[in-house]
Amino acid sequence: MTTDVLIIGGGVIGLSMARELAIDHSVTVVERGRCGGEASSAAAGMLGAQAEAYGDDAFFRLCVDSRKMFPELAASLLEETGIDVGLDRAGTLLLSFSEADISARRERFAWQKAAGFEIEQLSAAEIRREEPFISTDVLGGFYLPADGQIDNRKLVHALQRSCELRGVKFFEETTVDRLAIDNGKVVGVFSGELAFSADKVVLAAGAWGTEINAGFDLPFTIRPMRGQILQFRTAKRLFTHVIVGPRGYIVPRGDGRVLAGATMDDAGFDASVTNEATEHLIESTSEISPSLGSLKIQEAWTGFRPFAPDRMPVFGRVPNAENLLLALGHFRNGILLSPVTAKLIADEVRGIDAVPTEFAPSRFYSAAMGS
Ligand code: FAD
Ligand code: GLY
Repeated sequence: MTTDVLIIGGGVIGLSMARELAIDHSVTVVERGRCGGEASSAAAGMLGAQAEAYGDDAFFRLCVDSRKMFPELAASLLEETGIDVGLDRAGTLLLSFSEADISARRERFAWQKAAGFEIEQLSAAEIRREEPFISTDVLGGFYLPADGQIDNRKLVHALQRSCELRGVKFFEETTVDRLAIDNGKVVGVFSGELAFSADKVVLAAGAWGTEINAGFDLPFTIRPMRGQILQFRTAKRLFTHVIVGPRGYIVPRGDGRVLAGATMDDAGFDASVTNEATEHLIESTSEISPSLGSLKIQEAWTGFRPFAPDRMPVFGRVPNAENLLLALGHFRNGILLSPVTAKLIADEVRGIDAVPTEFAPSRFYSAAMGS
């Protein structure tokens, strides 16, 4: 089996790259389980470029660039596949329930206005006018009109369908266990006895990204950060915006589902839903909206956010392995970053230097040499 580009991992990152690269390459995706079955389905789907930002840095700008790509992506997926991926641009509300929350939020988000991004301060009355089911204890907050959400499960479904229409070949239930190396060059992968040869291999195996035997040393490890989420359901939609409280968030879908997330547990690959996390999520949801927090939990699940030692994405070519590219470490923002990752990696595959140095794997090589 020979292909121009072989992608290891069919999560939102692998699928987005496959779709983009299929324009001018033969592409094969090898996925251990079912495409989209891991973090990409577990996620809440927030497009929180501003809500999750800590400063005006390269990472923030990358998130903003990616956020801009969603309207066109959603429209083109709808046209190609007939699947509406639920892009919702109602914006995000950040709530404060104490004076300390108010000053912490002001400190954290004030720079956004100065940097030219839309952010509005709202009084408690204005917030409750927008969202009548929010707790009467709310003291104020911010509105981020340009952030949004997408139904990430529909997104991965539509991406896979679009890939199929573009001729991408899928091998699901197929685990890559090692790379095939010839003279320092990556020439394909193995799954047991099954061999795939490829001109370029892109590693997009999420939290398992550095578990595969690469045949050479990578000077960093990708690890999982477990996130637990609860799902409630209301008979009709009660909330319009993504709502971020001081201790958790809620993401209301159009059909009445409300996701309440999410924990950050450094618990390895343990996929348990724990009582402690469930209690915490009920509390953080009740703080936002007591009526929501008292509803019966419809579903609960976990997922593994993939993170690098510096918690930044790891994109592009690997110094000591010709033909290998990485698309790893998307941590809390892999849904948001999926279109921009696809573009950057596709450019790199096409021989264009596109990856900002902040995100290149080479940063770990210089650190390892200096230590
Ligand atoms: P994955 O979706 O995990 O895909 C990796 C794939 O690689 C898997 O399907 C796996 O089976 C496959 N694989 C692994 N090993 C092998 C192998 N050896 N051979 C073949 N295949 C292999 N991001 C946002 O932008 N917004 C959010 O609101 C958001 N909320 C989140 C909430 C939670 C609870 C969690 C857990 C994550 C959230 N994220 C969010 C983060 C986002 O889900 C991830 O960053 C993103 O899904 C990572 O995508 P991925 O394709 O790299 O990983
Ligand atoms: N970005 C939301 C989360 O990772 O929980």
